[in-house]
Amino acid sequence: MSFISEKYCSAETAAEMIRNGEVVGVSGFTISGYPKLVPLALAKRAEKLHAEGTDFSITLFSGASTGESCDGALIKANAIAIRAPYQSNSGIRSSANSGNLNYLDVHLGLMGTRVREGYLPAPTTLILEVAHIYDDGRVILSTSGGNIVSFLEKAERIILEVNSRYGEKFAGLHDVFVPDLTPGSAPIPIRTVSDRVAGDMVQLDLEKIVAIVESDCYDEVKPFVQPDSVSETIAGYILEFLASEEKNGRLPKGLAYQSGVGNVANAVLCAMANNPNQGRVNLFTEVIQEACIPLLQNDKLGVASGTALTLSASAQDLFLKNIDNWKKHFVLRQQEISNSAEVIRRVGVVSMNTALECDIFGNVNSSHVCGSAIMNGIGGAADFARNARLGFFMTPSTAKNGAISSIVPLVSHVDHTEHDTMIFVTEQGIADLRGLSAEQRASRVIECCAHPDYKGLLRDSLKYGKMSAKGLHIPVDLEHAFDFHRNFMKNGSMR
Ligand code: COA
Repeated sequence: MSFISEKYCSAETAAEMIRNGEVVGVSGFTISGYPKLVPLALAKRAEKLHAEGTDFSITLFSGASTGESCDGALIKANAIAIRAPYQSNSGIRSSANSGNLNYLDVHLGLMGTRVREGYLPAPTTLILEVAHIYDDGRVILSTSGGNIVSFLEKAERIILEVNSRYGEKFAGLHDVFVPDLTPGSAPIPIRTVSDRVAGDMVQLDLEKIVAIVESDCYDEVKPFVQPDSVSETIAGYILEFLASEEKNGRLPKGLAYQSGVGNVANAVLCAMANNPNQGRVNLFTEVIQEACIPLLQNDKLGVASGTALTLSASAQDLFLKNIDNWKKHFVLRQQEISNSAEVIRRVGVVSMNTALECDIFGNVNSSHVCGSAIMNGIGGAADFARNARLGFFMTPSTAKNGAISSIVPLVSHVDHTEHDTMIFVTEQGIADLRGLSAEQRASRVIECCAHPDYKGLLRDSLKYGKMSAKGLHIPVDLEHAFDFHRNFMKNGSMR
């Protein structure tokens, strides 16, 4: 019997090994590649302990959001005290917003670095989903890279979920490089999307593996929704803009595309897939979303580099069926690389991220409703927005049937400042803010992007700002800057 085969056990036995108050690190990024069976068993164990009057909760660190069997089950069981760096789960959202959970909303490209530097506590137990394990402790990672290598440095115990759906077929998908820490770190030797600079497997310390659980679970990604007409209109503006930038010599061939999470982001890649004039595109992104499949099928995908392959169940099956032919189009990296400022700048990226609200001066809020209620988190948007060669923020011009304007006098929370943003797009139009003064930006955002129902109010805000501001560099009307949000909280509408 090999060392490895002796470690196989049930998820319940593995879950027993996790201690109250422990910092637990899991694999997983945007609902892909996370463990499912051990977290479910841990949630059941926590519920039992709570029923017996015993405290039990953990700090949960990951790459980014995980699915219902991990984030969902553990938060329902009241088993998470601290969560970082990103989530998209309604239970975690409401726990954070009701003050019951300490949620640390961290730039995704920096989470692993902060743990390795010791500014965030290092996970002591790791629960990792892997595609395959060899007797010598080498593992092939599954559908995401995330922070696995960064978390391994200081981990004391490793629990593995070996997902037999993937197996050795997943060999060659990952490139498991992580950068040096400062000071004096070596340059990251990646210049193009397809560069591979490390092995495709991770060597685990056999002594640290305490349990191995067999699994055949799917990533619990929601079914793919075809883009709606608003998203398609936004995508159309972006493609038109890119074509005119190319014509004007400002968009060199060979740039890669980054597309954020959510419906609107997917729509742009779908539009590229369906555009007969579109040549092959390369993606340098964090989440490789479902739209990569139509791109591939229409022979429009060069190489997609990311840290997560986030596909619905049917697309997961399709990917596995075609993996031998499709593998050469993908590189899955650790998120310290997929979201590295240095690499994003060197590769040359067009970034496309979604905002909750944008203000007329160029600031963007993508994470907090009315300045206080967390939606998902900043994610990796700032890693890309700040370092992209060309950057878009997109959003429908209104939300909640028109009760909310996504264009506001001043954002109620700032994720991306006016110094880092370039182009705003809504279904009303597109505003190129590069090289404009604050007042010029404000006029352009109002006239090009705001919904007609809110244009008058926004013009008034700029007018009063010019009359009352202390300085005219940014003519903000401080007294009424948050009237939109106040109205919404009081009357249910920003009007
Ligand atoms: N105020 C309040 N709610 C708003 C809003 C606003 N200004 N704008 C949108 N919403 C609501 C929508 O009504 C919708 O609510 P619902 O789920 O109850 O229907 C929800 O926010 C999502 O909006 P939707 O238009 O469906 O957008 P999306 O799925 O494209 O997601 C974000 C948009 C901003 C929530 C999402 O992109 C995100 O979390 N971004 C931050 C992280 C990020 O950018 N990561 C990528 C980096 S690579």
